[in-house]
Amino acid sequence: MAKKDLLSIYDLPAKEIKAILGKAIELKSKKKYLDVFKGKTLGILLEKPSTRTMVSFSVAMVQLGGVPIFLNVEKMQRSRGESIHDTALVLSRFLDGLMIRAFNHTDVEEFAKYSTIPVINGLTDYEHPCQILADIMTVMEFHKAKKIEALKKIKIVFIGDSNNVANSLLAIAAVLGLDLTIISPEGYSTKKEVLNKALKYTASTDAEIKITSDISAVKDADVIYTDVWTSMGFESEEKKRKKIFAPYQVNIELLKKASSKCIVLHCLPALRGEEITAEIMDKYESSIFTQAENRLHAQKAVLLHFIK
Ligand code: CP
Ligand code: NVA
Repeated sequence: MAKKDLLSIYDLPAKEIKAILGKAIELKSKKKYLDVFKGKTLGILLEKPSTRTMVSFSVAMVQLGGVPIFLNVEKMQRSRGESIHDTALVLSRFLDGLMIRAFNHTDVEEFAKYSTIPVINGLTDYEHPCQILADIMTVMEFHKAKKIEALKKIKIVFIGDSNNVANSLLAIAAVLGLDLTIISPEGYSTKKEVLNKALKYTASTDAEIKITSDISAVKDADVIYTDVWTSMGFESEEKKRKKIFAPYQVNIELLKKASSKCIVLHCLPALRGEEITAEIMDKYESSIFTQAENRLHAQKAVLLHFIK
């Protein structure tokens, strides 16, 4: 059977997303430690810092009976100019799967093209699919939605920078037919090509997608989700972004506009006092840190789905 990669949420038809989420929920509830990956190895290649993605994939691999192998980019021949093509061919002969966090999405696509093992996107400048699977799992858990269909009634609002995390959230909303509003300041909204791709799905899935810069669109939100204003790789824009994004902070005033059962999500790391106040981080600690924990369960389900 040909290998499959997880580069984007769009690599997963709705049926497969449901299967992965179902498996993640089952693994969490049963605390089942499988031994199915005995002797198997996952390469973990990180071009940028990571806490959750690195640790959740490592622990997931160990709990499934396999071994994570850290690939230090600086210590690899890639840093001396070895091509992605040759690196991918070599790693494919050693490993059973490769998780990559990279600056350029196209580099991860290139790795996937030449690898004969599954390649999993652990965040690029374009998407963060593994994060978003854990996020939807968290929404199901906190809003007691046993099935994906029950999620359709939940108004999800993302507020902040429409970057990788927001792109994957948009993709999953489009594929599953969810109700998603994305609120970003002008100039930091969903890119046209990203939206157009989502719109190809929305007609058949009845997803309700709204893209706006108007903060009042947060009204009656059941989920408020935010991400840092300055993503990794954009550090030179930090000062400018702090000013532009200030009105888009998740704070107590914003929460007053949401539904009374609203939960707050943050992919983390968070910068208290910037995109979210310390008060909101503390008040919604349960949903935010369960979301982080769910990375482990979701990543186990992803590994089981892709590594055979
Ligand atoms: N949310 C997330 O991917 O966290 P890390 O950058 O710590 O992996
Ligand atoms: N958008 C953030 C997500 C971090 C998990 C970044 O790319 O830095």
